[in-house]
Amino acid sequence: MKLAIPKERLDGETRVAASPDTVKKLVGLGLEVTVETGAGAHASISDALYQEAGAKIASSEADALKDADIVFKVRAPSDEELSHFKKGAMLAAILNPYDDKPRLQKYAAAGVNAFAMEFMPRITRAQSMDVLSSQSNLAGYKAVINAAAAFTRATPMMMTAAGTIAPARAFVMGVGVAGLQAIATAKRLGCIVSATDVRATTKEQVESLGGTFVMVESDESGDAVGGYAKEMSDEYKAAQAALVAEHIKKQDIVITTALIPGRPAPMLVSEDHVKSMKPGSIIVDLAAERGGNCPLTEPGKTVVKHGVTIIGELNVAAQLAVDSSALYSKNLLNFITPLIDAETKSLKIDWEDEIITGTCLTKDGQVVHPAFREGGN
Ligand code: NAI
Repeated sequence: MKLAIPKERLDGETRVAASPDTVKKLVGLGLEVTVETGAGAHASISDALYQEAGAKIASSEADALKDADIVFKVRAPSDEELSHFKKGAMLAAILNPYDDKPRLQKYAAAGVNAFAMEFMPRITRAQSMDVLSSQSNLAGYKAVINAAAAFTRATPMMMTAAGTIAPARAFVMGVGVAGLQAIATAKRLGCIVSATDVRATTKEQVESLGGTFVMVESDESGDAVGGYAKEMSDEYKAAQAALVAEHIKKQDIVITTALIPGRPAPMLVSEDHVKSMKPGSIIVDLAAERGGNCPLTEPGKTVVKHGVTIIGELNVAAQLAVDSSALYSKNLLNFITPLIDAETKSLKIDWEDEIITGTCLTKDGQVVHPAFREGGN
């Protein structure tokens, strides 16, 4: 069975879907691995390193994809890429189906069995396959590093003969995987850290990292299925805005990470909140990809509004291409390993398994995922 790793072609995508380490293991599973030349260039992986690990190098995208039974990618394939897929091929990638529902019909029409890795169920068995976690963790770290780089003051307290520098105050909004890593990173940089979330269970996690938890006092729970958050009532949102207004004006660095699956990101930092912040403060909006947690965020840009720098970079994990590629590749390896039959060295998929039903978008020419098939929401 042939497994292909084409080069990513989306602007700004630096990651690659296999590392030399995972290629070695994929070859060990009995797969013939082909990597398109230059696929690992942005992640500092040369063709030679892939070859040493046991991969063949294809000179073009068409060559890499020709007759491939399995295709690993980071991002959704373009129409052009899709035209090179073999009918019946399996595709595993971050497919963003909510943003591009018509594309699902294209996978189905091409006879591609497409799996959206970001739909991995949050169950213990699938933890090592969870691309949202592996990538968000790095994004949370990098968000704080980027904030510190844009900040024109030091972050830790410094007592010097010339005077004392006060520590920076960092406020993390949304305490999922990215938020927790942002808290840990801001602590390491010496900030005084506080954080908020609509899920009360995050309080203990924030405190265990040395942060202060700030939350609306309410009987309304933000917990939805799978550990995710739900959209809150208007009363809750008003109470949250008042709480944020009080807190945010004292902050130097704000990292927003709040997301609700399948919905636009909740608005947490209003223009008035921004106006109340000290000049020179920094907001990093990690939710920019889903519209942002602040109405002043411009996705993909860094802007200065009311003296506050608002960083709305997209695909932040890709700024750490070496680590994000290594972890993403490992997620894919862990996903495919149980699907390869040890004797026949071919795909043997249990279509009833919740990991498969949760991630499979199209199968045998049909859109099969419950959220997207006809009558789905
Ligand atoms: P996410 O990226 O969907 O959202 C980030 C955070 O924003 C969440 O903590 C959410 O509660 C918060 N949020 C949403 N709306 C908000 C609002 N209006 N105000 C303030 N905060 C708001 O979350 P992520 O990082 O994907 O984590 C979700 C959960 O899944 C967590 O409980 C995490 O521990 C759990 N998880 C479980 C895994 C497993 O069991 N395999 C793997 C990874 C995460």
